[in-house]
Amino acid sequence: MVSGDLEQFIRDLPKAELHVHIEGTLEPELLCEIAGRNRIPLRFRTVKELHKAYQFHNLQSFLDIYYEGTRALLSEQDFFDLTWAYLERAAQQNVRHAEIFFDPQAHTDRGVPFDAVITGIHRALEDVLPVFGLSSRLIMCFLRHLSADAAMRTLDDSLPFKDWIVAVGLDSSELGHAPEKFVEVFARAKEEGYLTVAHAGEEGPPDYIRQALDLLNVSRIDHGVRCLDDSTLVQRLARERIPLTVCPLSNVKLCVFKSLEDHNLKKLLDLGLCVTVNSDDPAYFGGYITENLLASQQALGLTRHDIYTLARNAFEASFLSAGEKARYIGELDRFMQAHPG
Ligand code: HPA
Ligand code: ZN
Repeated sequence: MVSGDLEQFIRDLPKAELHVHIEGTLEPELLCEIAGRNRIPLRFRTVKELHKAYQFHNLQSFLDIYYEGTRALLSEQDFFDLTWAYLERAAQQNVRHAEIFFDPQAHTDRGVPFDAVITGIHRALEDVLPVFGLSSRLIMCFLRHLSADAAMRTLDDSLPFKDWIVAVGLDSSELGHAPEKFVEVFARAKEEGYLTVAHAGEEGPPDYIRQALDLLNVSRIDHGVRCLDDSTLVQRLARERIPLTVCPLSNVKLCVFKSLEDHNLKKLLDLGLCVTVNSDDPAYFGGYITENLLASQQALGLTRHDIYTLARNAFEASFLSAGEKARYIGELDRFMQAHPG
């Protein structure tokens, strides 16, 4: 059990979230509402049926349902509403800064204009700052099960909106789609001024993490939990302070770990890696960032200091400027002083 004090501490802690797919925040209620107004038939007719369908045995079984959900999204307003709903939840959990993935190819391949997707998301991010004081950045992911040429065309589509996007990433089906497939795309993205991140070592081997670092020049690894299979790699991640955006509830839902008690988050922390906790696809995996922290604390016996380290790592690993990072870490440190353990 989380003691009451520690639970409240986790709820109130100033947080940064670095790994959340905006399409994965589409709650069943909003999915039904948007599908209804767009007259998109869903295989599942009620919110209850949707919840029941959210049983996954690996990444692919989840992605099949996730892409089905994205089919409801058509207009700029849909993307605005989706993003706003996430930001409201995030603000309630005292997320002070969010770096959000979007999957343009999941939409442009259905005929939705790139412009509608990014403008809807961007408008919500802009509007939220004065309302909740929550800062944000946008990361455009390429779907790795599609071709490198398709990723390159998506990169071209993004260029008119370059100022709204901080980085590019790589997601979708990992096994069989090694980072090396995207070397040219990521090199070109860097030339255009984007930072880079990649999902690696979620289901894939440690070598995919190494490829992401050496071939795609990523600043962070998304997931990365399979690094523990390779001690040389772990030493490098620690030495170079490469952040890992770990998503505990996601990993259990997708059977990367049998249970949260078996998760290696605490081990990674104790090895001194720059680990962060994130929600990935919270509408599908049973919780936002606070629920991820609460459940991990309970299952792994995380200490108050561990929770602080996770929060601090996230601000440090963000794509904010040095000044902005210092401001948020100052806020976090004042929070710690005001809530002595
Ligand atoms: N892994 C890979 N691709 C994804 C995920 C994930 O957890 N969520 C959305 N796209
Ligand atoms: Zn992810």
